[in-house]
Amino acid sequence: MIISGNNPAHVQQAVDALCAGELLGLPTETVYGLAADASNESAVAKIFKAKGRPSSHPLIVHVASSDCVPKFANDVPDFALKLMAKFWPGPLTLILPRRAERAAAAAGGQNSVGLRCPSHPMALEVLEACAAKGVWGVAAPSANQFGRVSPTTAAHVQSEFGPALLILDGGECEVGIESTIVDCTRGVPVLLRPGQISRAQIEQACDLKLVNPEALNSEAPRASGTLESHYAPTAKLRLMRTEEWQKALAALGPHAQNLALWSVQKPSHDLRGAGLFWRAMPSDATQAAHDLFSVLRDFDTRGVHTIWIETPPDTPEWEGVRDRLKRAAA
Ligand code: TXA
Ligand code: MG
Repeated sequence: MIISGNNPAHVQQAVDALCAGELLGLPTETVYGLAADASNESAVAKIFKAKGRPSSHPLIVHVASSDCVPKFANDVPDFALKLMAKFWPGPLTLILPRRAERAAAAAGGQNSVGLRCPSHPMALEVLEACAAKGVWGVAAPSANQFGRVSPTTAAHVQSEFGPALLILDGGECEVGIESTIVDCTRGVPVLLRPGQISRAQIEQACDLKLVNPEALNSEAPRASGTLESHYAPTAKLRLMRTEEWQKALAALGPHAQNLALWSVQKPSHDLRGAGLFWRAMPSDATQAAHDLFSVLRDFDTRGVHTIWIETPPDTPEWEGVRDRLKRAAA
């Protein structure tokens, strides 16, 4: 059931559900989350079950502010404090050393915990109300079936989990791709997942160089969003340079069938028969990130068999979008 985040009674209903160990579709500024009380083992088990996600894959725990961090983490390094001060509330997740016995199931049994304070006002409202009732953290992976496209509207969430799930409608997610994840448990900041907050911004905020996980020889923690194949639509997705799709489309001519194209360049119109769906890719990376998952879902809804996407520029502001597209195409 979708309830309105603008209605205080509905927000209260969402808070009550979480505090009672129920699941909730929670809006955040990045994507919608499938939320549950992070300290309630059976509630957390419901998340893994509903998503079909292996229970060893850790979930992000959402908190109302950095004041809640000591409830879940200890030995927080200085550079992590700087990142919190700079980017929270906002689309940044920090992996920190986990306090023994805290949120063990949500953390997938790892000795670290991923914490994030989201900036969506309705998410903050829910988290603050939960904290006031002693629910200090809310575990929430993206509200999609394991490996599938993340949801950026309440309707997307409902299409993943059906009408029985309580979903707080907070409108369209502003950012559109998941938070940047920085591992702060290795002495140096390690970028586990690129997002809207860029490498340069992180390095500047903590005055340290960001390390890539491949550069460390220790075993990286299991992270769904870092699997080679993830965020996949049903249709087959191919990344193509402009000249590539233009040539391929010219070769198909009027025979294009069940084909979708997301590109900055518009295809020459005599080729756009009933068999080709085209959507304009914004030339601005922030806007493209905002549109990405809803475009993939839209193409899937139209039942296309193949999706061609113009390869984004190889520049820092496109890193998050490029990362999601690479995994969606794998
Ligand atoms: O923007 C976001 O981060 C969204 C919204 C809902 O907040 N959440 C999200 O959650 O993307 P999820 O579970 O789909 O992705 C979280 C990523 C996964 O790749 C997970 O493995 C990783 O964070 N992660 C969480 N805790 C971790 C930990 N302790 N160590 C390593 N990776 C961790
Ligand atoms: Mg996810």
